[in-house]
Amino acid sequence: MKTSRERFGSRFTVIMAMAGSAVGLGNIWRFPYIVGEYGGAAFVLVYCIACFILALPIFFAETIIGRRSGSDTFGAMHKLAPGTNWKWLGLLTVISPMIVLGYYSVVGGWSVAYLFRSAAFYFTTSTATEVTAFFPRFISSTWAPLAAHTLFIALTTGVILGGVKNGIEKFTKYTMPLLFLLIVIIAVYSISLPGAQAGVAYLLKPDFSKLNAQVIAAAMGQAFFSLSLGVGTILTYASYIRKEENLLASGIGTGISDLLFALLAGLAIMPAVFAAGIAPGTGPGLVFETLPFIFNKMGAGLPLISGVMAFFFFFSVLMAALTSSISLMEVGVAYLSEEKGMKRRNATLAVALFTWTVGILCSLSFGPLAQVQLLGNSIFDFMDKLCSNWLMPIGGLLFTIFAGWKMSRADVQDEFTNGGRYNRRMFGVIYFLIRYFAPVGIIVVFFSNLLL
Ligand code: PHE
Repeated sequence: MKTSRERFGSRFTVIMAMAGSAVGLGNIWRFPYIVGEYGGAAFVLVYCIACFILALPIFFAETIIGRRSGSDTFGAMHKLAPGTNWKWLGLLTVISPMIVLGYYSVVGGWSVAYLFRSAAFYFTTSTATEVTAFFPRFISSTWAPLAAHTLFIALTTGVILGGVKNGIEKFTKYTMPLLFLLIVIIAVYSISLPGAQAGVAYLLKPDFSKLNAQVIAAAMGQAFFSLSLGVGTILTYASYIRKEENLLASGIGTGISDLLFALLAGLAIMPAVFAAGIAPGTGPGLVFETLPFIFNKMGAGLPLISGVMAFFFFFSVLMAALTSSISLMEVGVAYLSEEKGMKRRNATLAVALFTWTVGILCSLSFGPLAQVQLLGNSIFDFMDKLCSNWLMPIGGLLFTIFAGWKMSRADVQDEFTNGGRYNRRMFGVIYFLIRYFAPVGIIVVFFSNLLL
């Protein structure tokens, strides 16, 4: 049963919704700690290149498939390649975003908890030692992170229940500019801290001896994670884009905002990491340990202003996380309501329940379930690696093969150029990237990481 589909209202809201999906915890939380784990500037450089030559072509492949079909991921495969095994790609990308959302909402929960703490001016009024001890104590406890995770899922569910226009669109257009402004202020402050120069150098002066297949694969995984690729979110959002919209412009707008946010978050965090004497490779806790340090330090001179800033910062981190999590939830909801005929409300609750359950396991893996190992990783790390290093590259690869080899060139061209109206000259280059360059690039990186 098909429901009548809503559409995004304008170019601006399309970019805001897509950038809202792209910009999130991946930029603020994941990017800095992955940079720290993989050695700094050389990683950043490979990451930037991967964004343009591997990730953007997948972005275009997904938007072309999404808008052409006007369907959820499963429906898209069914419409454009009926009766073929491509339906499995449709199904895979219904399930993978739900797994991502499972652990994503745990970190989203952390940002909820930090928002509450900052509302009580905790980071600016407590001692530096108390503030640094907060994170490990918090995540290893049982109930508080679970409650925060539950709240995060509930917020996501609330927005999704509002529908595309009233929920997602209204939500995204105000919060992104605020986040941008605050990150710039924090970056400037962070760079001015004594000892911060080492952090700036760490981000900007590449040491190429640190490059290897694993680093390149991690950069690729991060580029996919950050641009929300390979799990059907961009495809699903693209199915809500009006036919008159220019896909190239939406892609470039989204890609640039995403990269800018990641680099700014790096500049906000890394200098402070060095100023605080924290090891850059400490893993998923890096940002949550560093930010309180920044606000605590700021608070020594300007308690009120920095307290208020901490509050608005965590508020906008939460908003950025929500604009991403709603895109993750929307994929499954679109599938269940359009393909399985479920009411949108019930579909939303079903997806929420599934992701909430996955998230509980991930959350507990920092505390009571810390002993449980899956292939040498904690449950949380396993889910993260499964998605970014496997499901996203595989999904991305298959989407480029679908757009590049399964769909006809004429259809792809028609969709990308809006029937010859836009981007006619760019099409050849983009098509080459989609058809040859991106798939080969992903395969090479993927296998060299497995084999080397
Ligand atoms: N890109 C989002 C972020 O950076 C995360 C995400 C991944 C969202 C995959 C949708 C799909 O936070």
